[in-house]
Amino acid sequence: MKHELMELPYELNALEPHMSKETLEFHYGKHHQTYVTKLNGLIEGTKYENYSLEEIIKDSDGGVFNNAAQIYNHDFFWNGLTPNGSEIPANLAAALAEAFDSVDGFKEEFSNAAINNFGSGWTWLVKDANGKLDIVSTSNAGTPITEGLTPLLTVDVWEHAYYIDTRNARPAYLENFWKLVNWNFVAENFAK
Ligand SMILES: [Fe+2]
Repeated sequence: MKHELMELPYELNALEPHMSKETLEFHYGKHHQTYVTKLNGLIEGTKYENYSLEEIIKDSDGGVFNNAAQIYNHDFFWNGLTPNGSEIPANLAAALAEAFDSVDGFKEEFSNAAINNFGSGWTWLVKDANGKLDIVSTSNAGTPITEGLTPLLTVDVWEHAYYIDTRNARPAYLENFWKLVNWNFVAENFAK
């Protein structure tokens, strides 16, 4: 089956002033689109044509894995953002406080992990099979669904995610990121 670039649940300029329309034009419209185009080309005529995106990710390696996982990761990233951010549902706030001392403690630990995730990659809030919350970082296209973990929230720390808006300053990008987090999406994933 042909994979398609997801439709964003908001307009390209809706995340301003924290994330610019120009960043979305490049990050979503060009980088994310390129992973979709490349995956469709790579799987044409192979068994992966009949696999779902998650099935491809769990079965493949090399270029097929990289492009499929980048589509999954970007879909997850965009769904985790919402214009002007949102309130944290009480049950999620309680779970974060239990795991990381406080919601602010969680944000600090997550930001530090993202800032120190060397090179290109992703930092995630995940839940393991026992329901335990944890922060993990992956490199390049790496994604926690290959480790049996349930992702709740991710931040893209590839330079293409922030270079237009904050140049080399990943910490400033992280500050903006917190103003856009869709906590209802995180809570839905937590409830899975
Ligand atoms: Fe990206």
